[in-house]
Order: sequence, then structure tokens, then C-alpha cells
Amino acid sequence: MTVHATSADGPVNWERFTAQRTQQMRSSAIRELLKITQLPDVISFAGGLPAPELFPVREIEEACSYLLRHEPKAALQYSTTEGHPPLREFLAESMAKYGIQHGPDNILITTGSQQALDLIGKVFIDAGAGVLTGRPTYLGAIQAWRAYQAEFVTIPLDDDGMQVDQLEDIIARTPVRFIYVLPNFHNPAGTTLPEDRRRHLVEVARKHDMLIVEDDPYGALRYEGEDIIPIAALAPERTIYLGTFSKTLTPGLRIGWAVAPMEIRQRLVQAKQGADLHSSTFDQMIANDIAQRGILKAHVRQLRDVYGERRNTMLDALVEFWPDGCHWTRPQGGLFLWAQTPESCTTIDLLQAALARKVAYVPGVNFYPHEDGGHCAMRLNFSNARPDMIVEGIRRLGLTLKEVL
Ligand SMILES: Cc1ncc(COP(=O)(O)O)c(C=O)c1O
Repeated sequence: MTVHATSADGPVNWERFTAQRTQQMRSSAIRELLKITQLPDVISFAGGLPAPELFPVREIEEACSYLLRHEPKAALQYSTTEGHPPLREFLAESMAKYGIQHGPDNILITTGSQQALDLIGKVFIDAGAGVLTGRPTYLGAIQAWRAYQAEFVTIPLDDDGMQVDQLEDIIARTPVRFIYVLPNFHNPAGTTLPEDRRRHLVEVARKHDMLIVEDDPYGALRYEGEDIIPIAALAPERTIYLGTFSKTLTPGLRIGWAVAPMEIRQRLVQAKQGADLHSSTFDQMIANDIAQRGILKAHVRQLRDVYGERRNTMLDALVEFWPDGCHWTRPQGGLFLWAQTPESCTTIDLLQAALARKVAYVPGVNFYPHEDGGHCAMRLNFSNARPDMIVEGIRRLGLTLKEVL
């Protein structure tokens, strides 16, 4: 039975009891859309879902059996907020290969990197505080920080990501507490910030004494080109770097991490204590087992091959099936590309026609904190569907576009 806020005397005015900050909270359009796209015959480019057929199920089963047989008391017990020490050691070592020189004590294990975004909001955002994001930016960050009544200040992206040459002008108009940046294979734009832009961003952050939040769930999933130095390696004193196992292992484990200077990490630990005490001990130990046995490394290699091929399939299908006047990014990695339609077509309206043909995407406007852009853009995910489905879905979208245009 579903219970609503009504009684024999009529509806209960529950809104009267809610905190003021909830007025800006909305349901995530993507989470809502995912409900439709989970219908079996819809080809969905909407979610950010990894390919489920590649999950290392047997290896995770082995890890579970091993842990329950050999370490059940630790695996099923409460543990520290900071996170499982061997996992933090593993993470410190693997990030050092990218130039991030923080030790295990600078790391906080979180319940997905989404939780880290929320904790950052809890620690750094007073009502009305300025937060600088790209236009577009990750929807989950908008959602997390709206709840803390952030004032979003935005900076446009081009094919190389954030146009950091505009940073100083923008922050001169509205001061911000931190800059939120997605340097590798941006969600949703698919762009990668070149090294000179990263260095310029750090220079400005230092000059104006701002923090940087570097969100990097996709960095390991590169299909072409060379790794670029992380911002956390360029400005370790003022960067909070976020990572996650969601895209490289499985999102269902809900294990991510934040790396930050000690004082900031301590604040995040305090915020997490009030949120969930600690992330699942069992899940952390599973992730650690998979990582320490070298399975993660091999799995990421496989993901790079499979997703790289799916990206190519989508790019080729776009060329073949979409009408003139459409454009798209060519991501060097990650899970998404960003496609633009001609101005005569809005992607919110187009979605109804697309769903009628049983194909889905996320309309671009959802990724704009002020909903002031992206009307003729959409985010397309290429990791989840198999290549033949990618071709078919892009063909159906092409037909829909041709009809509407
Ligand atoms: C940019 C970005 N940040 C954070 C997340 C959250 O990931 P999770 O909470 O699963 O680690 C995602 C997920 O898609 C993302 O794309």
C-alpha cells in the first residue's frame, strides 16, 4: 500500500514542515528518465551505466567467499569513517602514478563520489555562497549543491572544456568558494581540459585564493592520446580530488574516495560521520580484494577496449545516419558524447518523438544550473548498449531528427 500525506480530515500540509533549503531541491531528470528507459525494448543512451555484461561477477563472488571465510568479523563489523586502510594505501599508490602525491591519511573513502559532492556541500556551502561550474556540468553536482542553496556561477565550455581565460572576469563579478572542474572526458560534454588550461586554472585559483574540486570518475578510461597531469598534482594544497570505482569496477558497490589536504579531509570526515558513520565495510573490502589481486587493472584494460570500440561505433553511426547541421564532440575517453542539433529543434520536444521510436537520451538543458542553455543539445552514452544496438539507436534518432527538421 502506498501512503500519502492525507488523513480523514483531508491532505496534511507537509510542505509547511520542510526546511527552507528543500525548496530548491528537484528530482534528478536522469533518475526519472531512467525509469522509462529501463523498459526492456528501449535503447537507452540516457544513463551513465557501465556495460553490465562485463562486470567481473565471478571474481567478486570469489572475493565475497574469501572475505566471509577468512575475515568475517572485520568484513561485517562497523569500521572507521576514514575507510579501510589497505584500500586507502592502494589508492594512494595508484594516484601517485598520475602525480598525486598524497598519502593514505589524506584519503577518505566515500559512498560513491556522489557522497563526496554532498559532503563538500555540507562543509563549504552556506546559503548564497558562490560555486563556479562549467556550463554544462554534472547534473549530480547541481543536485547536491542546490540542497545547500549554492549560488551557481557558470563558465562556458568549448571543445577543450572550460574556457578558463574567462575565469578572472567571472569571479571579479561574483566571488566563489570553489571551482568545480571535470578535466577528463567531461560528463556530459565529453571534453578534456588541456594541460595549459589546467595550469591557468591553478594560477587563478592561487591568485584569488579559491579551492578546486576536481571530479575524475573517468580518468582511467582513456581510449586515445596521453594522460594529462591531474589538477591535484599541480595544486595539492587547494584541490579536493574525487575518484570512484563506479565506472572502473561496478557502481553497485558504491565505493568512491576524496583526497584532500589534511585539514579539509578532517572536515569531510566530520561531515561523513553525521551522514553514514562509514561506507560499507564489506564493499570496501571487496573493492580492495579485487584491486590488490590485479583484477581491477585487467578489467580496466578490457573496458578501454570495449568502450573505445563502442565510442567508435557511435561516432561512425552519427556520420552515417544523422542529418546535416548536427555536430558532436569526439571524446578521448569516458562514457559520453555531446551532440548538438540545428537551432530549429529543441531536444526536450524531440525526446517525446524519440521515445515513441523507443530510443532515449538526456536533453542538454538538464546540465545547466540555470537551465539557460543546452536546448539544442543532448548527452549520449556509449558504454551501456552493445554495438548493434548503438547503430540501431543512432539510426532511430537520425530518423526522428529528419522528421522533426
Ligand atoms: C562527474 C561525475 N561525478 C560523480 C559521479 C557519481 O558517481 P558515483 O557516486 O557512482 O561514484 C558521476 C556518476 O556518473 C559522475 O559522472
